[in-house]
Amino acid sequence: MNTEDFDIVQSGVIYFDNGATTLKPRVLSEAISDYYNHYSSNAHRGDYELSIKASYEYENTRELVRDLINAKGTNQISFTSGTTDSINKIVFGFFRHYLKKDDEVLITKSEHASNVLPWFELADETFIKVNYIDLDDNHKVTLDNVKKAITANTKVISLAHVSNVVGDVRPIKEITEYAHSKGILVLCDGAQSVPHMKVDVQDLDVDFLAFSAHKMCGPTGVGVIYVKENYLENIKPIVFGGGMNAEFSNDGARRYKSMPDLLEAGTPNIAGVIGFGYVIKYLNQIGLEKIHEYELELRNYLVKRLKEISEIEIYNENSESGIVTINYKDIFPQDLSIYLDKYNICTRAGSHCAKILKDELKIKNTCRISLYFYNTKEEIDKLIEVLKNPNIKTDIF
Ligand code: ALA
Repeated sequence: MNTEDFDIVQSGVIYFDNGATTLKPRVLSEAISDYYNHYSSNAHRGDYELSIKASYEYENTRELVRDLINAKGTNQISFTSGTTDSINKIVFGFFRHYLKKDDEVLITKSEHASNVLPWFELADETFIKVNYIDLDDNHKVTLDNVKKAITANTKVISLAHVSNVVGDVRPIKEITEYAHSKGILVLCDGAQSVPHMKVDVQDLDVDFLAFSAHKMCGPTGVGVIYVKENYLENIKPIVFGGGMNAEFSNDGARRYKSMPDLLEAGTPNIAGVIGFGYVIKYLNQIGLEKIHEYELELRNYLVKRLKEISEIEIYNENSESGIVTINYKDIFPQDLSIYLDKYNICTRAGSHCAKILKDELKIKNTCRISLYFYNTKEEIDKLIEVLKNPNIKTDIF
């Protein structure tokens, strides 16, 4: 779909590394150039036409994000530099004050580093405990296993909506419903879900959501924090400066603004946020439901074709997202990735930032093929053809 909008696709590159970051449609660079060339100025700080236009476009993106995830108000949406920044701001701006010694946070062994390390750091600082929800035999998170992992001390469950390695779509709505019945809050890492499916924060009822623009055709350096209205007054900034303060005086007295400005100290990535808005409009025109459906069709085709090659092990055959993680017998995943690159096929090899998942997969490194709507069955056919090369090993070494 829409392959004509992507110069890199047009150049013949087969880009299967969409879990890391996606390609950008031309509309993004056009919107960013337009800002830099025609109304470059600071947002929220100038009483002149250029700055008013920059502020308008910036805030318009906030409204587009609100609409995208169906938040009730734009005050629930703050811009950050990405999912990592968002999760850190939630952990240290909210949970550092909310949790007490011996309280427990539940995560899984398939979480990305950005949903593990902030919790480890907080645990060192505040003596909370980090515990794990068991994954099932297909490396998936189930509601039953969530229930088993909960103790009387569990106060928060922090989970990716879709794992960036095994691609399982977690039953976040059911988990949240159960968690809330026990007084437990839910932080959802939407980095791999918001770009690929309709995510409705009111329907899922999550307390916090984090995601990045660059994984959904947007610019790098822009992310989103969504905060449920109940917690808007309890979140504290961890970065201080201009834009987030209402007033301060020489005796140290100070008053900060409320959300969303509270978490946006300093000049933000104005060009990026504006560009993100144009990309959201672009994705809306295609339709996230349509994107999701098409990706699943591609995924099923990819899995079916990969199974033609007996040397390939698929780690997540039964997942429901466009992420397919494999290894080729006796070939180190990074060598496989470098081999594929000879044919202009981009994949990612390694642990994919989920470094404790190796305990579950019993293998440290894999090669990941992650799809997006501009991928095609013809590209998958090319991948399979290259993987079926009888001389693959000699061509690599
Ligand atoms: N989180 C990104 C990935 O999964 C970088 O590749």
